[in-house]
Amino acid sequence: MKQSLIGALCVIVGVGSAFAQTPAKKPATKAAVKATPAPAAEVKDAATLEFEKFRAEMEDSNPAELFEAKGEEQWKAKRGPKNVSLAETCDLGQGIGKIEGAYVKMPRYFSDADAVMDAERRIVWCMVEKQGYKFDDIAKQPFANETFTPDITNLVTYVAGQSRKMKIDVPLKDPKVREAYEMGKAIAAYRAGPYDFSCNTCHGVDGKRIRMQNLPNLSTPQGAMSGVQGWPGYRMTGGVMLTHQWRMGDCFRQQRFPQPKYASDAVAYLLTYMIGNANGQVYKGPGIKR
Ligand code: HEC
Repeated sequence: MKQSLIGALCVIVGVGSAFAQTPAKKPATKAAVKATPAPAAEVKDAATLEFEKFRAEMEDSNPAELFEAKGEEQWKAKRGPKNVSLAETCDLGQGIGKIEGAYVKMPRYFSDADAVMDAERRIVWCMVEKQGYKFDDIAKQPFANETFTPDITNLVTYVAGQSRKMKIDVPLKDPKVREAYEMGKAIAAYRAGPYDFSCNTCHGVDGKRIRMQNLPNLSTPQGAMSGVQGWPGYRMTGGVMLTHQWRMGDCFRQQRFPQPKYASDAVAYLLTYMIGNANGQVYKGPGIKR
């Protein structure tokens, strides 16, 4: 288990020996995380209240819907070198082309790929295996910026929208999924990098915050759900549509780790852990993020 965890980390960061060695236990640079406990969970600061008001107004005309509509077109269109549609070839775990409720039941194990896959990873797999796109081309710029939104972002947003108001139901009883969950749990606790941070340094206890951001405790059902809700999300900072995979990558950056490889095992494991912890709660669909 330990061996394969370190293996997974080496794969994602693509460094090998740096991580294979036992990391020197430097004292964590406390000053770098300006985390102070929130006074009480119920007391919201002015900025949070202001944001929530704004979000409530925005949700009547959620910008995510534009990306969903684009994703629907792309899901149904014959595309790629093989000129087939995802609708007629891609199985997200519910049967070919069946997308209702598929998003909330991932990550799951796919025997054709022999891997546990989150929604984004699975759609990329379909684009490569069924439509004939090259993985490296997709991975070159997998996330949106101010001037560009990749197809994969639209597709994930569309698929996520087809699970609106459904309960999160990651199949943790499947031994392969359970194993991925345990790996994700171990990765979340794995401390390394210049500050000796793990995910749990910032997300392992209740009531932590950095600057104005509340940091959800991903090990609790509620905390995990707040890390799931609203993704994929339209981020008002920059005005871009971003996916759960992006969120994971960006938190590796917060952690001063090298960026994980796109659509890698390690990201799927972390998502299995986090989304699995949110099982049973209702997903509201693609949302808006601060
Ligand atoms: C140095 C502290 C730090 C570390 C370490 C860190 N994060 Fe984060 N995380 C943040 C901050 C700050 C935000 C909020 C960022 C924002 O909204 O712009 C955040 C946001 C998130 C969110 C989104 C929460 C929401 O409301 O949607 C998730 C999920 C998440 N982190 C997961 C992780 C995972 C998994 C790891 C380990 C790979 C990790 N984080 C490591 C600081 C950290």
